[in-house]
Parts: sequence; structure tokens; C-alpha cells
Amino acid sequence: MTVHFIGAGPGAADLITVRGRDRIAACPVCLYAGSLVAPEILGWCPPGARIVDTAPLDLDAIMGEIEAAHARGQDVARLHSGDLSIWSALAEQTRRLDRLGIPYTVTPGVPAFSAAAALLGRELTVPGLTQSVVLTRTSGRASAMPERETLAAFAATGATLAVHLSIHVAERVAAELIPFYGADCPAAAVFRASWPDERVLTGRLADLPGLVAEAGIERTALILVGPALDPGAFRESALYAPDYDRRYRPGGSVGIVADELTGERR
Ligand SMILES: C[S@@+](CC[C@H](N)C(=O)[O-])C[C@H]1O[C@@H](n2cnc3c(N)ncnc32)[C@H](O)[C@@H]1O
Repeated sequence: MTVHFIGAGPGAADLITVRGRDRIAACPVCLYAGSLVAPEILGWCPPGARIVDTAPLDLDAIMGEIEAAHARGQDVARLHSGDLSIWSALAEQTRRLDRLGIPYTVTPGVPAFSAAAALLGRELTVPGLTQSVVLTRTSGRASAMPERETLAAFAATGATLAVHLSIHVAERVAAELIPFYGADCPAAAVFRASWPDERVLTGRLADLPGLVAEAGIERTALILVGPALDPGAFRESALYAPDYDRRYRPGGSVGIVADELTGERR
């Protein structure tokens, strides 16, 4: 018996991985995390599967479900939204499984920040502007932020910020970021990316809280901030420059043509 943790993706059922879908189809028990997993995904569970929404359960009750499946010798598909590497409660569950000696696998999923960037049609790292993305949040009821992980500390780098779990405090987020990025910095709020009711709000950082309030968005949205969101004129990356000499294109594009024609390396 194995517990398969599966990143269910940002919402749209076709944004789960093929491996994730196949594991769901092979597990007679499915535990899924509430409203952020699309009903179509649960449709892949085999006939007669035990399907449990874990949103109202505490960790002991979730482990109770897993231990009962273990006693029956039944594999469990454990679904969380997005990817499991960020804000998924994976660590506390695998720690319990390690103690119980119950094996598990982890299948990655498309994280919400990727889905949001796709909806915006933007690359979050743009040559010469920013080469880093910070995935962060503000403190909430369930988790306080470690002292040094302040928005100001991350903003000081100028990286693209993807602020999760914070749309309800958009005004505070903007106020803390404006001293670093400026009021005119491009910003976006992306609500339920990839769901049928997805919404995108874009504008200046200073205007974002007003846009969010006007739209009445209070949850399941990401705040993205940074110059990469509206890069304007920027230099192209060296990677595809004609004269860039690299391993698979020795001597630049001249080398590629020669390879294609002769099959020989130059
Ligand atoms: C508990 S975290 C889960 C993150 C998830 N594990 C991931 O990989 O993206 C929930 C937060 O992720 C963001 N989020 C999740 N799904 C989203 C979506 N479809 N569109 C926009 N933001 C989303 C929101 O900021 C939400 O408050």
C-alpha cells in the first residue's frame, strides 16, 4: 500500500500531469483538498472509490483515513492544488507517514504562479530586468511568517514577486512594496487562473488594491509585481543570438547549418 501525493494543478482538469491522472485512476481511495480541486479530476477515480473532501478534517482525521486504507491494503491518491512543493501541508503528512512506516510517492503539479503567468502571457524573468522570482505570502491565521521573510526584504532585490494567500490584504502588500518598486511598477492580480471564472486585473502597483476591491476579489488569487510584467524595451537573451557559441550550436548558427547538412560537428 502506498500514498500517492499528487499536485492537482491550478484548477483546469487538463492541467494535471498524465502521471497524476493515471495514479488517481489506479487508487481505490482519493483524499482531496476541498474547493480547489476540479470535479472532473475526481471523475478519474475508479468506480466505487472512496472519495473524501479533507477540507473539514484535521490532520489526525486525515491520517485516520490513510491508516484505515493501509489496513485494507488500498492505495491512496492524496490531491492538493497546484504543486506540492509550496503551501501544500506535504511536510506534516509525510512526517507522520515516515513515523508509521507507510510508503509514499510525490507527483508534481502545475503551480498557480505558472498558471497566472501563462494567463498574463508573460515570462517572469526577462533579460536585463530581473532573473529571479520570489514565491512568498504574508502571514495568515495558520502560519506566521518567519521574522526575516518580509515583503520589504524580498522587494529590495527587485525580483518578480508572486505573493500568495494575500489578496485580502492587497492594500498592505502594495503599501509595503511601493517604496521599492515605485507606484508605477506593473502589477497584476490573477483570480482562479485556469478555472472557468478566472479573472485578470492589471495596472500600476498603486492602483492594484482599488482594482481588487472594485472586483470584489477576496481569495484564490495571486498578486504579481515587477517590471517583467510589462517589460517594454529589453535586450534579447544571448542564448539565441546568431553569434552565441554554445555546446549544442558550436560556433553560432553557422555551426548548426553545417551540422544539419553534413551530420558532422564543427
Ligand atoms: C494554499 S496555497 C496553494 C498553492 C499551491 N500549492 C500552488 O502550487 O500554487 C493557495 C494560494 O495559491 C494561490 N492560488 C491557488 N490556485 C490559484 C489559481 N488557480 N489562481 C490564482 N491563484 C491561485 C492563491 O494565492 C491561494 O491563496
